[in-house]
Amino acid sequence: MQTEKILRSEDDTIAFAQELAPKLKKGDVLALYGELGTGKTFFTQQLCKSLGVTENVSSPSYVLMNEYMGSFTIHHLDLYRLDAAEEVLELGLYDLYDEAITIIEWPEIADGMLPENAIHIYFEFIDTYRKVTVKK
Ligand SMILES: Nc1ncnc2c1ncn2[C@@H]1O[C@H](COP(=O)(O)OP(=O)(O)OP(=O)(O)O)[C@@H](O)[C@H]1O
Ligand SMILES: [Mg+2]
Repeated sequence: MQTEKILRSEDDTIAFAQELAPKLKKGDVLALYGELGTGKTFFTQQLCKSLGVTENVSSPSYVLMNEYMGSFTIHHLDLYRLDAAEEVLELGLYDLYDEAITIIEWPEIADGMLPENAIHIYFEFIDTYRKVTVKK
């Protein structure tokens, strides 16, 4: 299944996050693709807010992974700085999935380590706006 949405403003991304949040369940893995600045972290911040996280959600580019508590445990990862799939294994990715919602920016390097039911979300710049495509 594939759905597309045009995101003309941050408000559109907020609405998209608010729409997706109630559909998520424990064990879901969201792989967020897209060039630098397309809005992966911003989307994650809004999604976390919709999932009841009250603390500040920041980019995990340097720490690789952050954990938040909302209506679920949420793991937010950014694999941009990793060079090899083995480094992903060291993060213990597989052990994270079951009991939480896992959100992964720059998931390409973990391609073979995503569960079959992962939700793939692609962010793109198109002219002056952004587009998001969800593939399940
Ligand atoms: N739909 C939108 N419309 C306008 N601006 C947006 C939208 N979504 C996000 N932004 C803005 O784009 C900027 C970059 O977003 P963000 O940091 O989320 O990108 P990213 O995809 O996580 O980048 P990186 O690959 O560096 O992690 C932020 O300032 C954010 O507020
Ligand atoms: Mg980011």
